[in-house]
Amino acid sequence: MNVRIQSQSITAIRSDLLVVSVAQGKHNAAHLKALDAAVDGVLREQVRRSRFQGKRGETLLFHTHKRLPSVLILLVGLGKQASIEPSTWRQVGATARRQAQEQRAKSLAWFVEPGMDVQGMGAAILEGILLSGYVFQKYKSDNGKKTAIETFTLAGPGLRKSVRLSQSLETVQNTVPGVFLARDLVNEPASVSTPTYLANQAKKLSDGNGLKTEVWGVNKIKAAKMHGLLAVSRGGPEEPRFIKLRYTPSAKPKKKVALVGKGLTFDSGGLSLKPAKSMETMKIDMSGGATVLGTMRAIAALKPQVQVTGYVPSSENMPSGTAQKPGDIISYRNGKTVEVLNTDAEGRLILADALICAVEDKPDVIIDLATLTGACMVALGSRVAGLFSNNQQLTDDLLASSKETGEQLWPMPLVKEYKDDIKSPIADIKNIGGGYGGAITAALFLEEFVSEVPWAHLDIAGPAFSERALPHAPRGGTGFGVRTLVQYILNL
Ligand code: BES
Ligand code: MG
Ligand code: ZN
Repeated sequence: MNVRIQSQSITAIRSDLLVVSVAQGKHNAAHLKALDAAVDGVLREQVRRSRFQGKRGETLLFHTHKRLPSVLILLVGLGKQASIEPSTWRQVGATARRQAQEQRAKSLAWFVEPGMDVQGMGAAILEGILLSGYVFQKYKSDNGKKTAIETFTLAGPGLRKSVRLSQSLETVQNTVPGVFLARDLVNEPASVSTPTYLANQAKKLSDGNGLKTEVWGVNKIKAAKMHGLLAVSRGGPEEPRFIKLRYTPSAKPKKKVALVGKGLTFDSGGLSLKPAKSMETMKIDMSGGATVLGTMRAIAALKPQVQVTGYVPSSENMPSGTAQKPGDIISYRNGKTVEVLNTDAEGRLILADALICAVEDKPDVIIDLATLTGACMVALGSRVAGLFSNNQQLTDDLLASSKETGEQLWPMPLVKEYKDDIKSPIADIKNIGGGYGGAITAALFLEEFVSEVPWAHLDIAGPAFSERALPHAPRGGTGFGVRTLVQYILNL
């Protein structure tokens, strides 16, 4: 999509569809009067007849019948002026895109009122437009292509192309493909999207210009004593992979960030088998890894002065005669021993190996993402990720980024007293807690492997996948976390 910025009065804008956003009760703004005069009062008439008030998401579409250079005009409601925030712009951006597609509009223009903060607003609108354009229809026999929006223009009187505005629009354009990659990987069925497949996708990302991918096969995994990954993958025929990607900036990095993502391509539960219903969506259990790959893709395009390393332990979790058994003990490379009492608590087992590896690379911070526990969904529902951290600064920074992107995080406690729940009578710790507070005991388990490094754990079991269409994403993988991680890294 071609993105342009133009200085023009509202009646001079030329497009297939011109979007004019209207805050609730603000239909008397000067630009709307000018528009109305140009169409001989038809606009005012239509607003009155349809009782358009400017409520959030409300729309009114009308044909200019050649009285203006734009073919169609779409009024879209913003809701109360005081409650307009970036997510409002993303949402109305998505609404406008749907209308544009229905009307087969190829060029979309958005009127920017003089005096508006076009930078934040323009970026959020573009993000809404781009994110809502995602479809996964490779397995649909009828994958009839929709009209693509070819140009998007921000236009308004006195609107100037500033470096900052162009940069924030470019950031959006470079980030969205990362979100789409994450969605694609999550939506791909597990019999296709295996650890080998994920590794191959990661290799494809190397751009020869800052981003390098390393894939470890079974031998290297064995040599590196990644016994969690080996134990979990023993149940199925698919070989595990350990994927490591590093983006190195051109100059000395300001910070070193490690991103760790759970890459469990299918979670049947193993011998602690899940019931059929719980297994239906378990192809999504590599969402954390998908988010890391998506983020690396965006980072490679954005080229910040930060070193970013992604670590994705990838495996299936299957039951069989060779599968690990409840009661087995894993000895990790850092000396810790873990009693496996439930083979369905496998995410933490493979993440432990990756966290040990990340710590050894001496990063400034480690952020892991995992569809780790159903308990986190019970606590926070399907739209919010749990944020656990041993560091207040990192917590604050991630919350600030999440506020900017609208991907919701909620701080959760690492309750010291619950550490007793993961003590094992026979090994150092066990892989399940005492029943309640399952998201917390899972996070406490991970904490055992991060030493003193500032670390945050995002339990994305809820928001990684959406059962129903959202304003910015259809049903399926959401790519949750890519935008927030990118924002966090750009803010460093
Ligand atoms: N992958 C699941 C967690 C999950 C559940 C993700 C629902 C997305 C949606 C994880 O491996 C798991 O099975 N966790 C168990 C842990 C329990 C055995 C301690 C769970 O949450 O039930
Ligand atoms: Mg499991
Ligand atoms: Zn799992």
